[in-house]
Amino acid sequence: MTYQVMLGAPTETIESTLTAGFEELADSQIVSVHRSSKEIIDTVPKLPNLDVVLIHEELGPLPVLDIIRELSRSHPQLAVILLVEEVLPDTFNQAMEAGARGVLATSATVEELSARISTAADWSRTLRRHLEAASLDIPVSGSRGSVVALSGSKGGIGTTTTAIQLAMVAAKAKRSVCLVDLDLQSGDVPSFMDLTHRRSIVDLAEVADNISAAMLSDTLYVHPDGIHILLAPGEGERGEDMTASAARQILGALRSRYEVVIVDCGAYLTEASAMAVELADTAIVVVSPDLPAIRGGQRLVAMWERLQVRKKDEVTALLTRHSRKNEIQPDFVRKLLGTPLFKHVIPANYRALEEATNTGDPLRISDDGLRKAFRLVADEVGLLVTRASETEEPNSDDQKTGGKKTSLSGLLKKDST
Ligand SMILES: Nc1ncnc2c1ncn2[C@@H]1O[C@H](COP(=O)(O)OP(=O)(O)OP(=O)(O)O)[C@@H](O)[C@H]1O
Ligand SMILES: [Mg+2]
Repeated sequence: MTYQVMLGAPTETIESTLTAGFEELADSQIVSVHRSSKEIIDTVPKLPNLDVVLIHEELGPLPVLDIIRELSRSHPQLAVILLVEEVLPDTFNQAMEAGARGVLATSATVEELSARISTAADWSRTLRRHLEAASLDIPVSGSRGSVVALSGSKGGIGTTTTAIQLAMVAAKAKRSVCLVDLDLQSGDVPSFMDLTHRRSIVDLAEVADNISAAMLSDTLYVHPDGIHILLAPGEGERGEDMTASAARQILGALRSRYEVVIVDCGAYLTEASAMAVELADTAIVVVSPDLPAIRGGQRLVAMWERLQVRKKDEVTALLTRHSRKNEIQPDFVRKLLGTPLFKHVIPANYRALEEATNTGDPLRISDDGLRKAFRLVADEVGLLVTRASETEEPNSDDQKTGGKKTSLSGLLKKDST
């Protein structure tokens, strides 16, 4: 995403010198220019994605250090840079004390401008992520969010697409949502959502027995559409660091903070995905209407049963890529799989997903029917309303997993710092 910059320039000459510099920067964009401190103070709250404010020392009527002080008090996540004709040690110290992130000469080269803007903007985005994640921190209420685990009956049928769409629908319904990519070797959520982020779930695995709010917010990616995302590692082999117990602790920590935790388990069983299926409130096996997928689903469900991960009748199948023209219809899928099946199905409609998939913007589904199908399934899963159990005591889910889980209340206590 391009860095968004606001410019406070007292004269047209200063404005054009700076805008000329910005024209050469591919990753930054001036989103508004202002001639007075009042305009700046009034406009900042209207630009939630603003990263950097560049203010020239001669901007008035408020003294420039007062504007910086005011901005850093009311918008601590904004990076403010003071622009000066000459960088003097005194000016630098005063600006930093007032809360600026840096001081830059108006004569700075394009390289200097680029480096300063990107450092300041990265800092601002990191801080925004911290603040947003912290605002979702709800350890005191002891509420317990709902974990929904989606596993593919075979690869490539639409498990990730469904997980992302369900997360989007729940976020739209104003629920706090975390999407977890637990497809450890080949998690591809970043390309579906056009995001780059260095941290992944394995960074949390290393500290799983003591996850703090700060660690979570460092690791989670905050998507502009409102969902928080915990990615699979960029290097698949690092997935081996994810033990079952780390997965249990991480999902427990997430469940105590988010109303909805959606886990993409991929199509292969791992220790971590088995744990997600075991402790999920809803375990979904995604099937497409073809025999290889149904056989894959049968194998997966039977394996869960053998490993005492989850009983067959506690798994629900979701049919995707459905068409009335297919030989295989929902009733047949239910019979062969022997699990309950969601009443609603996801229609086959590759075209309607094409733009969303290729632009990395999951909201760009071009067919109302498909959009509605995801909404209906989200509703059937119970993602759109608060469930009674979400206000239960956190320990109550020990019953469900035979008391094998570590105590969530323990996690919460450790977290309350
Ligand atoms: N309902 C659908 N109708 C048609 N095409 C779909 C549907 N759902 C997903 N697809 C397409 O199928 C392809 C694979 O989707 P996706 O990556 O979500 O599947 P997956 O099961 O997660 O695959 P993987 O095994 O690689 O993780 C994508 O091109 C996606 O657009
Ligand atoms: Mg996938």
